Amino acid sequence: MKRKSITKIQAMRHRGEPIVMLTCYDATFARLLDESDVDMLLVGDSLGMVIQGHEHTLPVTLDEMIYHCRAVARGSRRAHIVGDLPFGSYQASYDDAMRAGIRLMKEGGVQSIKLEGGRRVLKSVRGLTEAGVPVMGHLGLTPQSVHQLGGYKMQGRSADSADLLLEEALALQEAGAYSLVLESVPAPLATRVSQALDIPTIGIGAGAGCDGQVLVLYDLLGLDERFHPSFLKKYRNFSEEVRGAVSSYSEEVRQRVFPGRSHSHQG
Ligand code: KIV
Repeated sequence: MKRKSITKIQAMRHRGEPIVMLTCYDATFARLLDESDVDMLLVGDSLGMVIQGHEHTLPVTLDEMIYHCRAVARGSRRAHIVGDLPFGSYQASYDDAMRAGIRLMKEGGVQSIKLEGGRRVLKSVRGLTEAGVPVMGHLGLTPQSVHQLGGYKMQGRSADSADLLLEEALALQEAGAYSLVLESVPAPLATRVSQALDIPTIGIGAGAGCDGQVLVLYDLLGLDERFHPSFLKKYRNFSEEVRGAVSSYSEEVRQRVFPGRSHSHQG
């Protein structure tokens, strides 16, 4: 079956059909999310935190992103896959951005790429789009700039910063971005931006006025009890599930209950 194209994603927005996006980093979850009819899988550089255990996304490399994108591409067949360009792969120059974006598409097997920022990435967004690499923008809280922003704080609270964000959103659209992530911005601002744009917005911590929503998969599954930002809804408590399953297994191994007769290959 064919994957969802950017045209299909944009048509959903025009029909007023909410777009469902989740992060995904491996083939097993890619298969499960695909079977659950998730529209878009974002191989986010959030993998630096949830997979690699870093404090932020900055150490993630382009080679690592390609590795995870390939796994997600192998595991899924229908969802549109977006690969995140990691910190350092596109900020230094236009040429870097072109090479990194093309590599992620060519070697990662994704259908589009995402990069963070407004004015400073416009030329790269235009160049990549012209080269056949669909680009998703990312405004608001841009985690790759965490040190510049002074932490993981909501953005666009003042009238001036809200106006600037809207201006940058329009500029990204004009440069060719096919959609836009809005992260941690006040809900009224996200609604205003979504209404001003023709391309779909995908929100995280940005309220209900966006055209779609994205969450980090591990957060939705409740895999980290230490993380509970106000915008997050945990749909399951899988930390408990995992610990429960592993304790049962450990106990049964220690009690010599597992493997029992029915699990033995010797008959
Ligand atoms: O890296 C990521 O997972 C992201 C989403 C949170 C939007 O950029």
